[in-house]
Amino acid sequence: MRQKLASVTGAVCLLAMATASYADGQAVFEAKECVACHYTEGPAQEKTIEDQQAKLGPELWYAGDKFQAEWLTAWLTDPQPIRPLKFNSLTEDNPADHPALSADEAASVGEFLMGLTSGEVEAGTVKVKKNAKGRQIFTKKMPCSGCHEYAGRKGNVSGGRSGPSLVDAGVRLNPDWILAYLQKPEFFKPVKMMPVFVGLLSDKDMANVAAHVANFKPKK
Ligand code: HEC
Ligand code: HEC
Repeated sequence: MRQKLASVTGAVCLLAMATASYADGQAVFEAKECVACHYTEGPAQEKTIEDQQAKLGPELWYAGDKFQAEWLTAWLTDPQPIRPLKFNSLTEDNPADHPALSADEAASVGEFLMGLTSGEVEAGTVKVKKNAKGRQIFTKKMPCSGCHEYAGRKGNVSGGRSGPSLVDAGVRLNPDWILAYLQKPEFFKPVKMMPVFVGLLSDKDMANVAAHVANFKPKK
């Protein structure tokens, strides 16, 4: 009986820790003024190009769908540029001045952000492995590489600079989110610069190209 009670109390404590971490993360997110540039409540709030241009940073309301937890927590302590160009600009370079958090703050903010999900991403749909069809689509059949940087076989970076860099995207992004993002652009980004591929690519080919992008990892 006593043992049972102890394990129940243990479970309650663990639960309290987990929720405290989410709540702590939310509190840090507000205290550090992350809210000045990012919104965390969906659905997408931007309806017009003006709304998009008024944003000072990317929306985070589906951060838990989009990112990999480990990458997110590490990036928050050492935020290196993701978009080659300044947010919402097609001419200026990324100023590389994103605020950084301490490891403790990043751990709780990471917990908070990974808790933000949309319910629109099906887990386990994209099989991450070498995908020749996906590679063809990315580099030849569709203009993906015209807007996104990626690393070639020898690690050399090529591709366009108008979209976020996809170098090592497999470490940063959730493979299933990449597919969902291609399939449901209106849901995740009603106002966007990236073309809509619905109707141009079959669901199968979207899964192929998502697998290819999710396989962009640092060369060992
Ligand atoms: C002055 C505006 C500003 C503030 C304040 C700010 N950010 Fe950002 N944030 C940005 C911009 C701009 C980017 C895009 C950076 C890039 O592409 O390199 C970004 C990117 C991000 C990303 C990656 C999102 C994505 O889709 O690529 C996360 C996560 C993030 N910020 C979290 C935070 C947190 C946590 C804080 C508070 C400590 C914070 N930001 C404060 C402007 C801001
Ligand atoms: C005309 C330029 C353009 C083309 C072509 C393009 N993209 Fe994009 N892509 C963007 C931009 C810009 C964004 C950032 C969101 C936005 O504004 O639409 C983006 C976002 C993304 C993201 C999310 C990255 C992040 O960190 O937020 C992925 C994944 C992606 N694109 C994959 C693709 C794939 C795969 C293709 C080809 C099938 C493709 N893109 C074609 C411009 C482009």
